[in-house]
Amino acid sequence: MQMIVRESRRRGKRIGLVPTMGFLHEGHKSLIQKAREVSDLVVVSIFVNPTQFAPNEDFDRYPRDMERDKAISESVGVDVLFTPGVEEMYPAGFSTYVVSEGMSSILEGKFRPTHFRGVATIVAKLFLIIQPDAAVFGQKDAQQCAVIKHMVRDLNFGVAIIAAPIVREDDGLAISSRNIYLSPEERNDAAILFYSLRKAEEMIRGGERYAAAVMREVEKIIRTKRTAMIDYVAVNDAESLTEISELQKEKPVLISLAVRFGKTRLIDNIIVQL
Ligand code: PAF
Repeated sequence: MQMIVRESRRRGKRIGLVPTMGFLHEGHKSLIQKAREVSDLVVVSIFVNPTQFAPNEDFDRYPRDMERDKAISESVGVDVLFTPGVEEMYPAGFSTYVVSEGMSSILEGKFRPTHFRGVATIVAKLFLIIQPDAAVFGQKDAQQCAVIKHMVRDLNFGVAIIAAPIVREDDGLAISSRNIYLSPEERNDAAILFYSLRKAEEMIRGGERYAAAVMREVEKIIRTKRTAMIDYVAVNDAESLTEISELQKEKPVLISLAVRFGKTRLIDNIIVQL
């Protein structure tokens, strides 16, 4: 893998990386397409990264299907598939981590305290191994995009970070590998997430400026669904992720949420700019 990438770089080609945990779906295909637009050689990594899962999370049952992923990658014209093993990425005695302080301990970080340390560490390793010019991530993981942009700036990685738009099912549910865990009732109820986010946007466009009022309304809408259990609904500055109490013109805001449906925890978000 490294030889092909090195040779392409030597010939002046732009390398685009799409880091994934596999079980590829339409969302990943859109990231690959974006990478194709900005680069000559598209590398997709598939690695279910153990360090971003807490012991009580779904690392063992996280969906995996390498044969299917290989076929999909081929069908969408991926040039190089990088599929390292755990021992390759985390050799015995591994003890060096990348931590983006502050940003990693709010929102998702409150519920998953070691998650972004795992993400930043594996993404830093992928950047060092592949040395891409650009890397594409899904905007569904808005905080992950913010943490990675921050890390790239702080540690001078020189990789352009592209956040690609969320791809949704017909009823608005954001596409995610974890959606397959949902029972039919949970799957039906989960469409409320995007509906509630759109209502939030409508409220803001209609003149509401208090974040607390927006969050209250989103929570009220989600609670109409029997199987939904809210972890959080939040309104933050879309870039710095600082909490916002009153919305201002020309400052994009991120409305994000995490909601559990049975054992499945889903996240979603929308960015609103007045
Ligand atoms: O978004 C993901 O799939 C993962 O967090 C990533 C970026 C591939 C790191 O393991």
